[in-house]
Amino acid sequence: MSILIKNGNIITASDNYVGDIFIEGETISSIGQNLSVAADTVIDASGLLVFPGAIDPHVHLQMPFMGTFSSDNYETGTRAALYGGTTTVIDFILQSQGHSLYQAYDAWSGRANGNAIGDYGFHMAVTDFNEATGKEIIDLVEKEGITSFKIFMAYKGALMIDDKQMVGLMDEVKQRRGMVTVHATNGDMIDFLIARHRAEGKLAPLYHYLSQPEITEAEASERFAGIAGYTGCPGYIVHMTCEGALNAVRNNNRNNQKVFAETCIQYLLLDASLYENNFEGAKWVMSPPLREKKDQAALWSGINQGLIQVVATDHCPFKWEQKLMGKGDFSKIPNGHPAIEHRVELLYSEGVRKGKITVNKFVEVLSTNPAKIFGMHPRKGCIAPGSDADIVLFDPNHHHTISAATHHMNTDYSGYEGWQVTGKCKTVLLRGKVVIDDNKCLVEKGYGKYIKRNKVMGIL
Ligand code: URP
Ligand code: ZN
Ligand code: ZN
Repeated sequence: MSILIKNGNIITASDNYVGDIFIEGETISSIGQNLSVAADTVIDASGLLVFPGAIDPHVHLQMPFMGTFSSDNYETGTRAALYGGTTTVIDFILQSQGHSLYQAYDAWSGRANGNAIGDYGFHMAVTDFNEATGKEIIDLVEKEGITSFKIFMAYKGALMIDDKQMVGLMDEVKQRRGMVTVHATNGDMIDFLIARHRAEGKLAPLYHYLSQPEITEAEASERFAGIAGYTGCPGYIVHMTCEGALNAVRNNNRNNQKVFAETCIQYLLLDASLYENNFEGAKWVMSPPLREKKDQAALWSGINQGLIQVVATDHCPFKWEQKLMGKGDFSKIPNGHPAIEHRVELLYSEGVRKGKITVNKFVEVLSTNPAKIFGMHPRKGCIAPGSDADIVLFDPNHHHTISAATHHMNTDYSGYEGWQVTGKCKTVLLRGKVVIDDNKCLVEKGYGKYIKRNKVMGIL
């Protein structure tokens, strides 16, 4: 099968031009102006933006967490992602403490294989680093194409590792030419504040926010960046929310260390005032929590200064009845919120249209940088001959309203209910196939492919 996309405004991380894209099978075969080739299907993209499929390197699908599972599985989650222009996701496997990495790998693969609709890869979260798990890392990199290893500096008793394990893991991963990514918050300090709030009977969602002040994230980010610099292991901070954490990266860059940073769409657009509204605030209980307006300003600047390379989602959805598990105690509210479907449209509407970032930066942080940092470039993350034909045709003038009544994520509320957005993913191609067209999904579960990733050199 061949497809010719004609007259689109092609946008990459560096260029904008009007042109045609010729696709044969799963990949792009040529790009040019007024291409005269015979194609099975011709798509007129006049007036549309044409950019590489977005990559979300931070999602949690069907993840066992806080006594329940995140509510999108691989089918519903990757379908919702495709509706929103995200053609590839990277999900987190969580090792169970006391068990092997491969046990967790088998469980996650079993849930994903044959069910995903969009393409997917895995990071491995190492929650118990020791000699045995160290050896497994070699096979995960070489055989399974898992080249990034996540650590949690919080969630003690379930996921958190200590600094001794962190330095050991970095040492190992560096030798395998992988990357260590981190949930960088000071878990002990947060646990102290949670206990104090509970003892004082302060149990509303607001106290989730007040138990994780900015310093808990800034301190852990400094510590992580410093240890990464010492070991020489490429490092990446996930879901950065605040000025203090950004300054930790800035300081380390001044010492000629490179630590990559990711923020998420919610930290750019939403703020902590949402926690003041009684239990309704549970919709936005996530870790780290939403912050202040001054942090949003810092994050937008961090993107433009090149200190933040990626805008992801940390999609970890729960239904309202799951959030109610914490009705009488904020510390039992499952942490996470739904976003996989709306990241691209929100970043365009709020970021590009409002002049906060250029359209090229938009492509860079949503697609090209995640592909490069996580070892998928040039197969993914660009529009170039030989690359997978993962392409979004985007109508920049289409107005619509976000609502749980119309979204495709398996949650019964939206963190952005009623938001008016300008710009919509009209047609989405994944590996040369039209998967979304005019609000219809045209592929079934099982279409999504597991993507083995290359070794990560820590270079953009
Ligand atoms: O609240 C969040 N972020 N839930 C998912 C787990 C994590 O910490 O990323
Ligand atoms: Zn996290
Ligand atoms: Zn996460």
